[in-house]
Amino acid sequence: MYPIAVLASGRGSNLEALIQAQKAGELKGEIALVISDNPRARALEKAARYGIPHQVIEPAAFPDRETFDEALIACIQQHRIQLIVLAGYMRLLSPRVIRAFPRKIINIHPSLLPAFPGLNAQEQAWRYGVKYSGCTVHFVDEGMDTGPIIAQRVVPVLPGDTPADLADRILQEEHRLYPQVVRWLAEGRISLEGRKVIIKGE
Ligand code: GAR
Repeated sequence: MYPIAVLASGRGSNLEALIQAQKAGELKGEIALVISDNPRARALEKAARYGIPHQVIEPAAFPDRETFDEALIACIQQHRIQLIVLAGYMRLLSPRVIRAFPRKIINIHPSLLPAFPGLNAQEQAWRYGVKYSGCTVHFVDEGMDTGPIIAQRVVPVLPGDTPADLADRILQEEHRLYPQVVRWLAEGRISLEGRKVIIKGE
């Protein structure tokens, strides 16, 4: 058993891709918990539909950042989570949370990092005029989108693309890449040498 928590703030299409991979026996882990900081997140409906325990932990419900962080940490610990998967979780985790789960938190970002960190990465890339973009899965460290890179997928930017076209093309690759990386982690095939991520058998 490799219990996974997925943290999501919105639509939840990456959550859905992970659920489908689990159902197909391709994840080698079990999504045991979904947490959102947004009570209206569609990701919560998806969790409910598949009978996955889900919880809202939103900053507004706490007097300060510290008590919010403690609630988040306690919830994850109670479920004996081995891997925390950020899937459109639009909030920076504080150092306190990151230190509680060293090398156990991963994120997916819709650009080829280190290019275009932060919000609206697809539109940033489109405006810049790059010919290729893509998505990156990385370990979460205390910076914004700066942790060691585990895997990336590249897509072309085509003439006539709108930012939404590019975002859709990247999203399709996100849905393939994220389950694959979770599987590698669940299988214990990923190690770190400094910033370099080594994937056994790749
Ligand atoms: C995804 O494109 C993900 O890469 C991005 O938010 C979207 C969530 O979609 N994450 C970030 O921009 C994090 N900086 P989803 O809710 O349908 O999975």
